[in-house]
Amino acid sequence: MFRLQPPLPDDFTTATSDELVTRVTTARSRLGKRLVILGHHYQREEVIQFADKRGDSLGLSRFAADQHDAEFVVFCGVHFMAESADILTGPRQKVILPDLNAGCSMADMANLDDVAQIWNELGEVTDLKAIVPITYVNSAAVLKAFVGRNSGAVCTSTNARAVLTWALDRDAHGRKDGPAGASGLWAESRGAQDRSNKVLFFPDQHLGRNTGFQLGYGPSDMQVVDPRRRLGGLADTDVKEATFLLWKGHCSVHQRFRTEHVEAFRSRHPDGIVIVHPECSHEVVELADEVGSTDYIIGAVSRAPAGSTIAVGTEIHLVDRLARENPDRTVLSLDPLVCPCSTMFRIDLPHLAWVLEGLVAGEVRNRITVDEKTAADARVALERMLAIA
Ligand code: 13P
Ligand code: SF4
Repeated sequence: MFRLQPPLPDDFTTATSDELVTRVTTARSRLGKRLVILGHHYQREEVIQFADKRGDSLGLSRFAADQHDAEFVVFCGVHFMAESADILTGPRQKVILPDLNAGCSMADMANLDDVAQIWNELGEVTDLKAIVPITYVNSAAVLKAFVGRNSGAVCTSTNARAVLTWALDRDAHGRKDGPAGASGLWAESRGAQDRSNKVLFFPDQHLGRNTGFQLGYGPSDMQVVDPRRRLGGLADTDVKEATFLLWKGHCSVHQRFRTEHVEAFRSRHPDGIVIVHPECSHEVVELADEVGSTDYIIGAVSRAPAGSTIAVGTEIHLVDRLARENPDRTVLSLDPLVCPCSTMFRIDLPHLAWVLEGLVAGEVRNRITVDEKTAADARVALERMLAIA
């Protein structure tokens, strides 16, 4: 999605780091309790040092929703996170993203037009009542609203297993049994292949696939849906026989980790521990010792025995911070050449200073708002997730 961040005035781009630190500190203290700054684990140090709360995407939004005194929520993260915060916070709270171009390339791989088109095409070959749409929290608010309207749910990398278990459980969905009073007949009248629930999972194929394998499904239960092709490039029978319809999206940061990296690390550190994020490919996840969200990775490193060597497959700013905060363990990036998430990296001191000084001057810059109808539908999908896990 194209978003336009206006260039900053010169006094932000030419200021030294020390000057900007002083300006951010001053603005922050002038705003006091009216302001809360949130920092995702992937943010750079110059920014995260100012975070009132560090966390994963959903944890931060939930934290913001509990800060009733905070009129301004400055979200140092990416666009979909700021949207989630706006959905979950009260109407008096204003959510601000310091750089409007801080998107998420994975979230941008699924848009509402494409999802609606694929959904309609799936409806031509199978009963849509048997398909539960699930969107990863890394998605636009309009997609969360789409799943809310279509009896689906949001998931995070922490609760994907519980949400997919719910989605595939016929009894969890009243409507999956068909029209009232006709459930037995309705179920029997359907083809044998077409009986169980299916999941349309977007935008990250890897999280969907990794969770499907965790639940005991195999490759023949999964099909990749390519949004650029009619019916995702699938034959009617592929759709009917699949349990998981996985959107062809990925995270460019996590997809870089390869099995060769795990093998090279294991040959250098035979007793080493490999921990990866579930946005990595299934081949990498299979070779890892542990897999989990950013919060999980932080916990797993702290639980590892002192003296251990740990290779972490996630964004480099978090890996470097874990290395600094765990001096009694050796923490390395699984890929020695891994690059940062370029959109998270857009949030820097000049942009933070610019939005905070705007607030001090009474000007709300870069406010992220989700319209009320979209927010109401998206909230349904988020609340369904919260009720499940
Ligand atoms: P978490 O929800 O685990 O923080 O992950 C967010 C993300 O963008 C991972 O790439
Ligand atoms: Fe998106 Fe990947 Fe960056 Fe996470 S690391 S914000 S999924 S591009």
